[in-house]
Amino acid sequence: MDDDDDRARVLHGLGYGLYVATAAGGGTRCGWAATWLMQCSFDPPAVAIAARRDSTRAATIAAGGVFAVNLMERGQQDLVSRFYAPVEETGPDLAGVAFTLGDTGCPLLDDGLGAIECRVTDSVPGGDHTIFVGDVVAARWLRDGVPLTLRDTGLDYGGLEDTS
Ligand SMILES: Cc1cc2nc3c(=O)[nH]c(=O)nc-3n(C[C@H](O)[C@H](O)[C@H](O)COP(=O)(O)O)c2cc1C
Repeated sequence: MDDDDDRARVLHGLGYGLYVATAAGGGTRCGWAATWLMQCSFDPPAVAIAARRDSTRAATIAAGGVFAVNLMERGQQDLVSRFYAPVEETGPDLAGVAFTLGDTGCPLLDDGLGAIECRVTDSVPGGDHTIFVGDVVAARWLRDGVPLTLRDTGLDYGGLEDTS
């Protein structure tokens, strides 16, 4: 037997990191807190990222064909929380966070532990999100630290959507 409660419990039990993803395309650059991300190929190294369908972030990835993932440190929840609301570049920073442009044109946060840049090879509709698969075409490591996970924040992005 299965019910919504069981589904929500198991889905909430899945393990995720918490990152700041960025994208450049269609004349804009944006950033968002992202948790639905995983490596999906060794050779070539590739990752899959899910971005809500009909959002600016999904449109920006689709337009530019590139995205970046900034690895953040445990303890940087406050910085990451600036990306819980839609963030588009309007000046030299992104939500007050300094960045450097990577090879793909995506913003790489100067306060992160490091970042990968990806070029999209595939996109798959996945319900209310679109899954973009991207080859890792560039990477930088800035400093050592314990990567931030979703569980560190006590937040959820998963389970069943609260429609109440
Ligand atoms: C903890 C957390 C994790 C999130 N993970 C994702 C994600 O994996 N994919 C995504 O598209 N949005 C994710 N979001 C949503 C965006 O980070 C952010 O809330 C969004 O930019 C707000 O814009 P919207 O109003 O267009 O959704 C997450 C939000 C939070 C709080």
